[in-house]
Amino acid sequence: MDDLNLKYFNVKNVINEKILEEYSKPAEAARKKLLSKTGLGKEFTGWVDYPLQVPEREITQILDTVEEIKSQCECLVVIGIGGSYLGAKAAIDFLSTYYGGSPNEVVFLGNTVSPLYLEETLKYLETKDFCVNVISKSGKTLEPAIAFRFVRSLLIKKYGENYNKRVYVTTSQTNSILHDEALEKGYKEFYIPSNIGGRYSVFTAVGLLPIAYAGYDIVEFLKGAINSCQDFTILPFNENPCLQYAALRNILYNKGKTIECLCLYEPKFKSIGEWWKQLFGESEGKDGKGIFPVLLNYSTDLHSIGQYIQDGIRDIFETVLHFDDELNNISIEKDSENMDGLNYLAGKSVYHIRHQIMRGVIDAHLDGKVPNILIKVKDSSIYTLGYLLYFFMFACGVSGYLLDVNPFNQEGVEAYKKNMFALLKK
Ligand code: PA5
Repeated sequence: MDDLNLKYFNVKNVINEKILEEYSKPAEAARKKLLSKTGLGKEFTGWVDYPLQVPEREITQILDTVEEIKSQCECLVVIGIGGSYLGAKAAIDFLSTYYGGSPNEVVFLGNTVSPLYLEETLKYLETKDFCVNVISKSGKTLEPAIAFRFVRSLLIKKYGENYNKRVYVTTSQTNSILHDEALEKGYKEFYIPSNIGGRYSVFTAVGLLPIAYAGYDIVEFLKGAINSCQDFTILPFNENPCLQYAALRNILYNKGKTIECLCLYEPKFKSIGEWWKQLFGESEGKDGKGIFPVLLNYSTDLHSIGQYIQDGIRDIFETVLHFDDELNNISIEKDSENMDGLNYLAGKSVYHIRHQIMRGVIDAHLDGKVPNILIKVKDSSIYTLGYLLYFFMFACGVSGYLLDVNPFNQEGVEAYKKNMFALLKK
């Protein structure tokens, strides 16, 4: 397979081909449940074939809306939390440059309750011509609702009664007070299909509108997801890295490896890890079960948490995500004085050096009895990102079924909300 390749590195008696093969039937059965929509949480499996069915009309509407937004402002504020922003942020950060950002500016808000961030963002927005995309499937989540209240009031102050032309809502068509407000105030709306939950919604308007506004090609993004869907929903287990990843996670979990560290080597790819963390954490952590997902940013974290990974409690495994394209050829030059002793690296690219760090780390951690899964994708294009995100979503559904949990609910999230609303005297 050209787009994505998976390898695992053995730790004696933990994984081997025979153990993996034993998972082939359960993994294919889990896939069947997902595809036939007969498993736990079946009412939220609309995402499985959604990339193949995104209505042409929806893409056109999103692209037209992006042109409309661009014609009236210089910045889009994206308000949302959890699955309502992590996918868009992952894609935008992945594709942006470190200093220039994305071609069109996107500001994320409402993904935490920070009085400082809120105040500073509002001050910043006072100086900007902006529109807002409020994203909430339920339409009632506290963090985005608070942010929208402030932003709405700033919009009214800046633009008067026409402020409503600058508000774009992505929500559910039923049971959403945000939808009711949109109807009353005349905001333009996009609907989230009722059978797609937040963390599986990146290929709906939830992800597509902000990504397209930022300046990236959502048609290519969807093409990646479509090809990924066509590969992983069909290929047999022994040729299917997605089913194998789901199986490997469960094998490791059953051997006491209850923490999975996703290791990334490019800081701006970190938001993909944040999206992944929510996807797996919220899908699997229930009924007293589940792998705890942790995001590690290497080589930075080798100098903070590396000691623990090498030598601490042996309940972890690593999944290394590698993008197999040399992003540039910036290389070490020979220095006639060689005061820093680095001339042995002269002529080598920084990419090459980083690659050797990655290989060295995998070997060292294997010596430290940390099993490793290596997921290699062919490049860091938006097509490949679509391919990868669908890979993870499908693996998560299969993995959740192997674990015998409902990967599509999140009842545990309600517990803190009950206390919070009582304390806030709702
Ligand atoms: O995956 C999920 O369903 C959650 O993370 C939600 O996306 C998150 O809680 C935000 O919910 P809402 O879109 O209803 O505001």
